[in-house]
Amino acid sequence: MKSIIFLALWGFFAAMVTAQETNSGEPKSAAFRPGRPWLDTNGVLINAHGFCVIDFGGRHYWYGSHKIEGKTEDEKNEAGVRCYVSDNLIDWEDQGLVLDVFADDAHAELKEAFILDRPKVIYQEASGTFILYFKLYPPKEKGGKSGKDYAWVGVATADKPIGPFKYRGYFLGNHNKFGTGDFAIFQDTDGAIYHVAVRKPDKALVYGRLSEDGLKPVGEYKVMEGVTKHTEAPTFFRRGDQVYLLGSGTSGWKPNAARLFVADRFTGPYKELPNPCQGVNPINNMGPDKTFGGQSTFVYPVAGRKDAWIAMFDINKPEDPVNAGYIWLPIEFEGDQPVIRWRDQWDLSVFSNP
Ligand code: DGJ
Repeated sequence: MKSIIFLALWGFFAAMVTAQETNSGEPKSAAFRPGRPWLDTNGVLINAHGFCVIDFGGRHYWYGSHKIEGKTEDEKNEAGVRCYVSDNLIDWEDQGLVLDVFADDAHAELKEAFILDRPKVIYQEASGTFILYFKLYPPKEKGGKSGKDYAWVGVATADKPIGPFKYRGYFLGNHNKFGTGDFAIFQDTDGAIYHVAVRKPDKALVYGRLSEDGLKPVGEYKVMEGVTKHTEAPTFFRRGDQVYLLGSGTSGWKPNAARLFVADRFTGPYKELPNPCQGVNPINNMGPDKTFGGQSTFVYPVAGRKDAWIAMFDINKPEDPVNAGYIWLPIEFEGDQPVIRWRDQWDLSVFSNP
């Protein structure tokens, strides 16, 4: 009898351990592991693509597009914007959809949108408002032959970082009826908000100032001088008086070489720097010419640390976006040249400054 109870208990514990390992897929570790499956605190793959990370009230918030399991990038495959919260940038708690395109009361422009891509959130201190921007592609019937000819910029606002965000409409980047492509939102030190985007059809990078409430562009867009045409996935960071722009080339969902530019002021003129990537991602054997298999989406200045930035990339997998992943790597400096070195695993101790 005793041995039967013992065997039953042993079987039960063994099953628990196996279940933990298989549920989580990967063991938990207090480190960033670029390119590896990244699970939230429930053991579910983090689903927040084309993302950004902001800080508020001492916590970190990750916002990205929620891709729908089983759908490819050629279908309507985004359910909205999902948010995660963390205290250490490694363990992320799911906060659900903060903008849900399938909600009963969702605006028709969200419900019918073909793509909702690259969400970026800023906190506007003066008004206590969180402003969420995203690429919003109208449905095929409203978007020309492929449904990708028009790309609007959707805007939503919230008074809390975890939303819910209320859709406030869209604007047309560069005041062009086709809108603009990939974009970044740059919040200047004086509070001014700029929309920086790929102009159609020549793919020059242009910038335009937004209204005080951040909802629409005011005035003309200007070209960012010195930035090579066809630069996509733009994201900015500052170091001292200099502004750096990290981006990619243009090759659809396929990876290409990262591009890096520097200027004395945000508006330019920019000077091109060498590719910052070094090393090879052993998971896919891709190196600097393919940005380790990723595409830039954001550079995060680590809160509370001086001169510490994380370069954040999406791994795009158009046929199975839910199971694509993320590459986060620290930015180091060799003189004035930023270097993004491949690391299999790392943590915040790589930043020497407190
Ligand atoms: C590259 C862009 O950076 C992505 O956001 C996406 O729009 C793809 N092109 C689509 O091919």
